[in-house]
Amino acid sequence: MKTIKVCIKRSEGFKEYMVETEEGMSVMDVLERIYDEQDNTLAFFRHEACHQEACGKCLVRVNGKVCLACGHEAVEDELVLEPWSDRVVRDLVCEQP
Ligand code: FES
Repeated sequence: MKTIKVCIKRSEGFKEYMVETEEGMSVMDVLERIYDEQDNTLAFFRHEACHQEACGKCLVRVNGKVCLACGHEAVEDELVLEPWSDRVVRDLVCEQP
């Protein structure tokens, strides 16, 4: 278990969270942990039925690189999460292409 700093660009500006992570967690797992345990006002794309890189809708900018939040790149260190496009609906939710 490791605690990492997660900095999220929300509609009102950046907000920092300290999150306990376990090995193999995805960015989506981290977002869900923040939502469930710290801040249920955070908006991000969540698709319970997918969660496995199938729908392609959970795009987010992770440390400057656009990727799927539920992708299997394990989270290891500090994260900066931003909306993937300029057409932001709220927080990390953007209009779908
Ligand atoms: S939730 Fe469908 S691709 Fe990530």
